[in-house]
Amino acid sequence: MTLQGKQLVLGVTGSIAAYKAVELLRALTTAGAGVRVVMTAAAQRFVSPLTFATLSRQDVLTDDGARETEAIMPHLAAAQEADLLLVAPATAHTIAKFAQGLADDLLSTLFLATTQPVVLAPAMDAAMARHPAVQENLARLQRWGVHLVGPATGALASGQWGPGRLADLDEILQAVTELLSPSQDLRDEVVLITAGPTREPLDPVRYLTTRSSGKMGYALAEEAVARGARTILVSGPTALHPPHGVECLQVETALQMREAVFSRLAEATVVIKAAAVSDYRIAQPADAKLPKRDTPLTLELVPNPDILKEVGAKKGTRIVVGFAAETGELVQRASRKLTTKQLDLLVANDVSQEGAGFACNTNLVIILDPAGGVEELPLLPKRQVARRILDRVVGLRKKIGYRS
Ligand code: PMT
Repeated sequence: MTLQGKQLVLGVTGSIAAYKAVELLRALTTAGAGVRVVMTAAAQRFVSPLTFATLSRQDVLTDDGARETEAIMPHLAAAQEADLLLVAPATAHTIAKFAQGLADDLLSTLFLATTQPVVLAPAMDAAMARHPAVQENLARLQRWGVHLVGPATGALASGQWGPGRLADLDEILQAVTELLSPSQDLRDEVVLITAGPTREPLDPVRYLTTRSSGKMGYALAEEAVARGARTILVSGPTALHPPHGVECLQVETALQMREAVFSRLAEATVVIKAAAVSDYRIAQPADAKLPKRDTPLTLELVPNPDILKEVGAKKGTRIVVGFAAETGELVQRASRKLTTKQLDLLVANDVSQEGAGFACNTNLVIILDPAGGVEELPLLPKRQVARRILDRVVGLRKKIGYRS
């Protein structure tokens, strides 16, 4: 990973995770970046500016420093000339200031002044990370094109377990590197991705669904767009925000997903189906809420169309990648899907494994191909799984070209 010749600003804010920013600074400079550190007043209560100044071999920019010289403009200029602003750790407070456009210290002023990519690595307590105020602020920043890395889920300084941990430093480093020099190896592709669950209504208030959060499919969309693909995401209902630069078609039912996929299939050169489509729908959904009864209720379910199978049958020159969510006999069952659905690659996850499948931030997959190849990946963040899947797509394209 190289950041040779790149100039970064590293903003450090007042979180216990500030000590990890020291390691992050070392990793960035080792990768070749010149790094100017900006610290908020709160951050300086956790780590001394001297530590960052020594490792970055540059003065650290602080509010006191700017006040002493009464010259914020040179500070701003230095930061504006940088290739990227990285804030790690980013506290809930700093995130709120950025989301509101407040400029009451050097770092928040820099955020408003920079036109370069901004990466935030949030770190806070779990309850704060889950709070709608924080969620909405992060969503707002994402809509403005700010890139988020994490927060990760795990043990927190408070002793709690949950979301709010600073993302792994490797993940932050990778996000920065990709933003500054992403390989554009998918620039000639139009990638159509499905993500999330489908909801099959029983009546206006109840539905049948699957446990998909959409994270796997959204990670694929983020990776595809970062690598230059025109990316179309057909998404069932999720709590996620469409990645920047991705065209997103929101759907609810399997039939709507099918319609959306086929409405855009002609443009696609690659199709990846990460959605967990409900295999059945209610035969006769009620128009009004079904009243509660004391007797058993029998529902008639009818099969939904297998969208992937239909796409596989009509794939033409496209590369088609399916997923398989299994709870046992992973390779055997997945191999059958690879063959019957005429796929180029099949990504199989055993969703009964810890850290794999539905809703978690990681996945544990094997990638099967029609030649009998079985690539087992280690437990990885979903974004990295996405990267490895798209690496295989690129490899396949090099091998087969655009078949007719
Ligand atoms: O969304 P997350 O919470 O991040 O979870 C990720 C995931 C577990 C949903 C994902 O990794 C995954 O495994 N997606 C496929 C889940 C699934 O529906 O598997 P399946 O074995 O039932 O289906 C096989 C393939 O056929 C899938 O590509 C599916 O999208 C497709 N399919 C299935 C049924 C159907 N009616 N139409 C389809 O296109």
